[in-house]
Amino acid sequence: MEDQAEKLREIMRQKSEGSNSHIAGTSYNRKGKYRPRIITVTSGKGGVGKTNIAVNMALAYARTGKKVVVMDADLGLANVNVMLRMTPRYNLYHVIRRQKTMKEIITETDYGISIVAGASGFSKIANLSEEERQYFIEELETLSNADTIIIDTSAGVSSNVLDFIAAADDAVIVTTPEPTAITDAYGIIKIIATEYDDLNLGLQLVVNRVKGSGDAKKVADRMITIAGQFLNLKVDYLGFIYDDPIVSQAVLKQKPFLAEDPRCKASICIQHIVGKLEKSEGRKSAGFSSMLKRLFGRS
Ligand SMILES: Nc1ncnc2c1ncn2[C@@H]1O[C@H](COP(=O)(O)OP(=O)(O)O)[C@@H](O)[C@H]1O
Ligand SMILES: [Mg+2]
Repeated sequence: MEDQAEKLREIMRQKSEGSNSHIAGTSYNRKGKYRPRIITVTSGKGGVGKTNIAVNMALAYARTGKKVVVMDADLGLANVNVMLRMTPRYNLYHVIRRQKTMKEIITETDYGISIVAGASGFSKIANLSEEERQYFIEELETLSNADTIIIDTSAGVSSNVLDFIAAADDAVIVTTPEPTAITDAYGIIKIIATEYDDLNLGLQLVVNRVKGSGDAKKVADRMITIAGQFLNLKVDYLGFIYDDPIVSQAVLKQKPFLAEDPRCKASICIQHIVGKLEKSEGRKSAGFSSMLKRLFGRS
């Protein structure tokens, strides 16, 4: 199992080596060929708002004219489609099992984004055969005509989650101000740090469900300081989202909150977050330093 995970990472690493620049959030590989920016949304604790953030970030991206795909990689509790009131016939399970291609299962929504539905109750990517894994990775590549791929993962640190993080340009780590959520978020950052000492990844912290920007800043400052001191890891503060009743109302209506009310507090925050992410450079600097490391044989 470990070998398989390592293989996937190696393929993803090779893929990322091709990438050497991010211009306004757009990625190009070494030959100047365009490739999508992959953003993984993850957390330590469940129920902190990952799926809402993934879906609504996608809508915010689409509003800037980008072609966006949301992939539901929460293989235990897949619910991107539920949040959009959709019941796609095929999902990632069929791709993983080689019954369908990614192109066949990708579904347009009414919100200007496409989704790849998750496989509820299916949590065994780690147990796939080598061939199945290889096929899955090749199929992932067919999403390459998107500008942005947002991957919604499950909470915690199953090897699946780590595999998806390994494939990403940015990992958006979601926490709330609750002490348990903060501890678990730190836990996942720590595992990412120990799993990948040569990490080519923008680590972006989002504090969700806050009462005010001051609360969020306190949580973020603490986490960033601790990650710097104890893990020697740079975590960026991407932003916060207000605790907003519109969010749960929208969830009940199975509609993204950004579509329900583009001017509500949560919508304004999410648009701000996407704007900031667009300005950030993703893998560029980390990619460059790891390239140097390889050049000088010090990795
Ligand atoms: N900013 C917010 N304001 C109010 N409620 C929120 C907010 N973010 C999330 N929630 C609530 O938390 C629930 C869980 O969110 P969800 O996105 O499904 O979390 P996760 O994917 O991390 O499990 C939502 O159904 C919603 O009711
Ligand atoms: Mg979720």
